[in-house]
Amino acid sequence: MAIERTLSIIKPDAVAKNVIGQIVSRFEGAGLKVVAARLTQLSRAEAEGFYAVHAARPFFKDLVDFMISGPVFVQVLEGENAILTNRDLMGATDPKKAEKGTIRADFAESIDANAVHGSDAAETAANEIAYFFPALNVYSR
Ligand code: PPS
Repeated sequence: MAIERTLSIIKPDAVAKNVIGQIVSRFEGAGLKVVAARLTQLSRAEAEGFYAVHAARPFFKDLVDFMISGPVFVQVLEGENAILTNRDLMGATDPKKAEKGTIRADFAESIDANAVHGSDAAETAANEIAYFFPALNVYSR
């Protein structure tokens, strides 16, 4: 199996709930390793740039407003099948549809405040990691 890296964001709702540690613990428990991380307050321009692919979606402004409403914990996770492993741990976008035991089922309130973001594919992961951690070599392993 391939060793991959993926970008994970613990969103403002989960940071405000003081569950960064509990969420990181789930990643570590599943064999993923944190290889870069920082707690940061995104500017509107940074959030808009990150979600540029969704710019035409009706929820774009709400999503950006939410992502700048408080600090986020941005991290790079590394491990076997990191992208899919992270998505499985996160659960469905809408916490009401997320499987029991997933991060969103346990920590998220709604589709707009859904606790975590995770890259959805290899190319997205490479772009998202470069967006927040330009000095990190995505394919260093
Ligand atoms: S897609 O088409 O699969 O990329 O779309 P999806 O993953 O469902 O959503 C993309 C991101 O938009 C967020 N989202 C919303 N934010 C606010 N309001 C509503 N209604 C809403 N629907 C989706 C969703 O949480 C995704 O954010 P990230 O950070 O990528 O998880």
